[in-house]
Amino acid sequence: MYYPEELVEEIRTKNDIVEVISGYVKLTRKGSSYWGLCPFHNEKSPSFHVIGDRQMYHCFGCGAGGNVFTFLMNYENYSFQEAIKVLADRAGVSLPEVEYSEEMRRRENRRARLMEVNKEAAKFFYYQLRTPHGEIGYRYLKKRELSDETMKKFGLGYAGKNGGELVGYLRSKGFEDDLIKEAGVANFTERSGLISQFWNRVMFPIQDINHKVIGFGGRVMGDGEPKYLNSPETPVFDKRRNLYGLNFARTARAGNMILCEGYMDVIAMHQAGFTQAVASLGTAFTAEQANILHRYTDNVLLAYDSDGPGVKAALRGIGILREAGLTGKVINMQPYKDPDEFIKNLGREAFQKRIDEAENSFFFEIRMLERDYDLKDPDSKTRFHREIAKKLCGFSEAVERENYLRAIAEKYHIVSEDLRRLVNSAAAQTGLARPVVRPKSGVQSKSSAQDNEKRNQRLLITWLVDMPSLYGKVSRYLSPRDFTEELYRKAAERLFPELEKGKVNPAGIISMFEEEEEQREVSSLFHAGLPQLNTEAEKEKAFKDILMAVKKSSYEFYTSRLGSDVEALKQAIDGKKALEELAKTHISLN
Ligand code: UTP
Ligand code: MN
Repeated sequence: MYYPEELVEEIRTKNDIVEVISGYVKLTRKGSSYWGLCPFHNEKSPSFHVIGDRQMYHCFGCGAGGNVFTFLMNYENYSFQEAIKVLADRAGVSLPEVEYSEEMRRRENRRARLMEVNKEAAKFFYYQLRTPHGEIGYRYLKKRELSDETMKKFGLGYAGKNGGELVGYLRSKGFEDDLIKEAGVANFTERSGLISQFWNRVMFPIQDINHKVIGFGGRVMGDGEPKYLNSPETPVFDKRRNLYGLNFARTARAGNMILCEGYMDVIAMHQAGFTQAVASLGTAFTAEQANILHRYTDNVLLAYDSDGPGVKAALRGIGILREAGLTGKVINMQPYKDPDEFIKNLGREAFQKRIDEAENSFFFEIRMLERDYDLKDPDSKTRFHREIAKKLCGFSEAVERENYLRAIAEKYHIVSEDLRRLVNSAAAQTGLARPVVRPKSGVQSKSSAQDNEKRNQRLLITWLVDMPSLYGKVSRYLSPRDFTEELYRKAAERLFPELEKGKVNPAGIISMFEEEEEQREVSSLFHAGLPQLNTEAEKEKAFKDILMAVKKSSYEFYTSRLGSDVEALKQAIDGKKALEELAKTHISLN
């Protein structure tokens, strides 16, 4: 549900952005604004800027920016609705009851109940581990070198030898049998009725990003099959969309995320200080999980097992990461099997070293490929080179492909000309990869004419917000329709009347958009990164260039629409006139 605009504004204005952000980032006052280390990227000197007057923040390093809502959405990964709830609460503003349909209410209630069952089950296992009964589990975890603190942090527990106990406990808490079953912690059997399938295992509760338990993995203590038993998928446990450890990793801000295979690996890494580690949930890594990771980082390090299946999983993972627009690197675990064993044997410094030396995922792929060929045999070697060429075709961007081509040619002593020929012939057969569309990625790798236009439109809005007095001088040449990018036009439709009245409130404009992606994009309008200019003349020229560029592309836009759009004719005529007048007009900044 969407709250009324006035309410959203009330909540926003009652939460001072400097105060809110101070809760997360150490800010230092400089003049009328505040500076700190950006929480959205890794940096050593502060480029993160919070402007109290405008109730906005902006990072000159990574370009992050927005208002108090977008800050929480980005930092805490809240949805807009969640950010509103949290800030309403903080400011003591009460929100109207949400009007759900009967069906939605039932589904929500059911989900909430399922979460409660999981939470109670986790509590049950947790306490069991700490009773004499559970000592066997506790000793097992100790033997695996987990500290009490780590066990507590991850809520580790123990499922006793009597599978009926958990059910009895949950019933005593008022949960019905079918709910207990649906939560995936127990099953009906002929012999014993409803009974937990977790039996004599150490228990790893799986939490969502809000630290809510949504399922379990249970490990046998010693040998036994299956080694890990996991909760089935339930309405609250979606294995494709959750990652073990993400509830902690999401605030690690290490500049990367480490993806591994096992619960124990995640825990061992966190215990050693690598709190950016996550694992998939006993299932293969998915594209959904890759997209989730992309919210936090561009760099994912794979810490998969060094055995055969681990390498296969890593190669698969690399493909998924690449599709999602992420850079993958592979951590070498040799001579150990997995991160847990590596850290246990060689310690954290050695592991950090392996992180620093992680191998580019393309090099890793080629190195693994090489193992299938006998490079002493000319035939085999040729096939290897052809296979490399085929893989190089996977890079859609010419520059990237060429860079890899050269690096690989050098590494494997191939004449780059020859390799290029192979790539061309492979491309002729299979085609080059088309550029993937990555709507979520903030990085613009190519700069097309359209990107340029958008950039100019953003710059123009930033100029107007930064120097509202300019508006009066250009308003007769400019209308919101000149912003051919629809979202920008909507923002301009909000902004221009405010400029007219001399009361600019960009932070408020951001939260008027409902979709989170829109909010991010609109935020970018207000700090488009104006060039550093020194003299007045330079600034005047820069502003006029931008204004002319926007008018020109608007004119071209409408001219191309003549005949198909009723507005187009008027826009084109006005546009032409404005361009002619502007060419003769001097716009001073004072
Ligand atoms: P591994 O077999 O690599 O085990 O499984 P591990 O993580 O090293 O575990 P330890 O160190 O022996 O305790 C990796 C992951 O695969 C899933 C689990 O999520 C596990 O963490 N898995 C493995 C299962 O779901 N079921 C199994 O039977 C085995
Ligand atoms: Mn292991």
